[in-house]
Amino acid sequence: MNKTIVLQKRPFGPLKADNFKILDDRTPKLEAGKLLLRSMFFSVDPYMRNRMNAIRSYVDPFKVGEPIEGDAIAEVMDSDHPDFRPGDRVTGSFPWKEMMCIDPARATKINDTGISPTAYLGILGLTGLTAYFGLTDVGKIRPGEQVVISGAAGAVGSVAGQIARIMGCQVTGIAGSEQKIQYITDELKFDRAINYKSFPNIRKALAKTNPDGIDIYFDNVGGDVSDSVMYFLNPHARIVLCGQIALYNQSRISTGPRLNAQLIVKRARMEGFIVHDYKDRYPEAIEDLKKWIMQNELSYRETIIEGFSNLPSALMGLFKGENIGKMIVGVA
Ligand SMILES: NC(=O)c1ccc[n+]([C@@H]2O[C@H](COP(=O)([O-])OP(=O)(O)OC[C@H]3O[C@@H](n4cnc5c(N)ncnc54)[C@H](OP(=O)(O)O)[C@@H]3O)[C@@H](O)[C@H]2O)c1
Repeated sequence: MNKTIVLQKRPFGPLKADNFKILDDRTPKLEAGKLLLRSMFFSVDPYMRNRMNAIRSYVDPFKVGEPIEGDAIAEVMDSDHPDFRPGDRVTGSFPWKEMMCIDPARATKINDTGISPTAYLGILGLTGLTAYFGLTDVGKIRPGEQVVISGAAGAVGSVAGQIARIMGCQVTGIAGSEQKIQYITDELKFDRAINYKSFPNIRKALAKTNPDGIDIYFDNVGGDVSDSVMYFLNPHARIVLCGQIALYNQSRISTGPRLNAQLIVKRARMEGFIVHDYKDRYPEAIEDLKKWIMQNELSYRETIIEGFSNLPSALMGLFKGENIGKMIVGVA
């Protein structure tokens, strides 16, 4: 049988196990003009939580009763298309199924043999690209600037902080455990770090770590952490609005302090972006990211949870800070 994970019911507040259902489906057969794939690795990402709401965003919501879908690596088992052969590895946005028959237009062959295929779900995939374009294009980063990254030990944040360091900036990372603080300072060479869970008053901590203020805030989390950062902006600061994971589980968004006046006083710019807008420029970013990896300037970690049935708990784990670097599920 072929396991499939569907959205059983829409969540209200934090995700729970009963938002998902594991079904046993028939093993698919190769259809004319298509590819038969066996999934190997799935990426779980915070935006998936938003796709579970019945709200149209930049992507359509998941449908109740239908498979969740996300970025994945799969192996071609059989092919009725001249460009793909059994044994090829492909990446794409695929349904949460152990095996599937898909249109070849949805699959991109991975030709790179020098790097682990999981890199295409993280450092060389959407999260690495998000860090790259968020800092360089939206943040317009310049050498010597003071950069603060929230969600700093996660997939996007860990890469964003390292790129800021490579660009000659001073980097402060904000993350949620001592293990993560050690990782970003010792291994990733961030200049300073704050554990927001042991410093309930982050404003006090930021006053110590950032006496020269903040030129770029790369915001992965929103909420209280981001409210605190706003008080330290330098004139003409840029706030790169990448993600707001602290808010994704909230069924009602709290009003919070009103901080827009800080943007006026500091003549600061806050700009949201979606990585897909940079599709045409992915090759240039991948070239830079690969170069930095080869030069040992850029390193990455992955948290790989084994087992197809663990996809829901891995996704829920993102909201509990259970990952360092990219959260991935390996399908044996
Ligand atoms: N704009 C785009 O195109 C784009 C693309 C990809 C991702 N994103 C966004 O970027 C952000 C990071 O994504 P990612 O894939 O790299 O995830 P990630 O950082 O690898 O994983 C999520 C992390 O968020 C932190 N977190 C969870 N709940 C939190 C809360 N209430 N307050 C503060 N931190 C919390 C946890 O770390 P701690 O232990 O530190 O709390 C957790 O490990 C997300 O908001 C995502 O939606 C945006």
